[in-house]
Amino acid sequence: MTGSPRNDRLIRALKREPVDCTPVWIMRQAGRYLPEYRASRERAGDFLTLCKTPELACEVTMQPLARFDLDAAILFSDILTIPDAMGLGLSLHEGEGPRFARPINSKADVDSLGVPDPEDDLGYVLEAVRVIRHELADRVPLIGFSGSPWTLATYMVEGRSTRDFAKIKNMIYREAPAAQKLLGLLSQSVGLYLKAQARAGAQVLMVFDTWGGVLGHAEYREFSLDPMAQVLSELQSDPIASKVPTIVFTKGGGQWLPQIASIGCDAIGCDWTTSLAQARLAVKDQVALQGNLDPAILYASPERIRSAVAEVLADFGSGPGHVFNLGHGVTPGVNPDHVKVLVDAVHELSVISP
Ligand code: CP3
Repeated sequence: MTGSPRNDRLIRALKREPVDCTPVWIMRQAGRYLPEYRASRERAGDFLTLCKTPELACEVTMQPLARFDLDAAILFSDILTIPDAMGLGLSLHEGEGPRFARPINSKADVDSLGVPDPEDDLGYVLEAVRVIRHELADRVPLIGFSGSPWTLATYMVEGRSTRDFAKIKNMIYREAPAAQKLLGLLSQSVGLYLKAQARAGAQVLMVFDTWGGVLGHAEYREFSLDPMAQVLSELQSDPIASKVPTIVFTKGGGQWLPQIASIGCDAIGCDWTTSLAQARLAVKDQVALQGNLDPAILYASPERIRSAVAEVLADFGSGPGHVFNLGHGVTPGVNPDHVKVLVDAVHELSVISP
């Protein structure tokens, strides 16, 4: 699994090397807005079967690439595979999101957790990486991913999606040792998991810190950023994983960009509340930036989508180090034709004249 992709725009942009045009991929590019995804899920029976059957995970990973001129594939999986492997009993309910049968309620629950062995407990994910790499045949790079330790902890303690994060915040403020132990276990688990994905063939690694932005300034450093720094240092100690570019995405983290840049990632994902021009100044061009169109733009007309793409490209400005993406995942109600307009607009409007 050492072949370099023929289309290496993404890898080059992440390393802040020159590219012929700006690379683009889209968070949740395989998902419910695609009728062929809904058909595959129907045939599989449910979402988790799709994730746990490498051939089906490969099938849905490839679907958006058949439609759009994307510069990367992203492994079809979910961030909740780690807590599932820890035995929390994951299920997904239509319209409600994920739920755990056995959420973490106490220090004793934390003490009962082990660190999953990626090969033994998450072998289906590694097999999906291998099957997808084979199917891609080096056309574009494959992105592997994990949730951040903090974001995984929120789901494990809340047991489901939440608005107020009351249980996990109770834990960090009233039972700090339990929270610290949980985050330590998760940092180790995520580090091993991403390292195993790199060894199986993932060519870029992304950490989704979807809920880092709900923390206060000091708590963000302690409970989200420091654990992510531990994950990255685990990757840096491995001869294969250390060569794989990394992207850290804290949704709502625009005010912490210099701190995020300092943990040794190659790129930072930005949501749409941050100006990329200001983000570049904040990180002093030390890392690449990924983003950051409001996903809701995809509901607008094709003309409006093109002008919004032009605005994001102009906001980033000239020079290397931009990966175009939405500021969060594409939503289920979007017309796939509008995604094509976006992808084509990024390539057309970003061509650098010789
Ligand atoms: O980006 C991609 O195309 C790869 C696939 C991917 C999924 N989930 C597939 C999925 C990725 C990268 C994720 C990450 C993920 N999962 C995150 C972090 C990114 C983010 O969006 O903030 C989070 C928080 C989750 C947890 C999760 N999984 C939720 C909250 C849900 C329900 C969402 C919903 O819209 O109902 C899921 C399920 C899920 N993961 C779906 C998909 C395509 C929908 C499942 C279905 O109904 O078919």
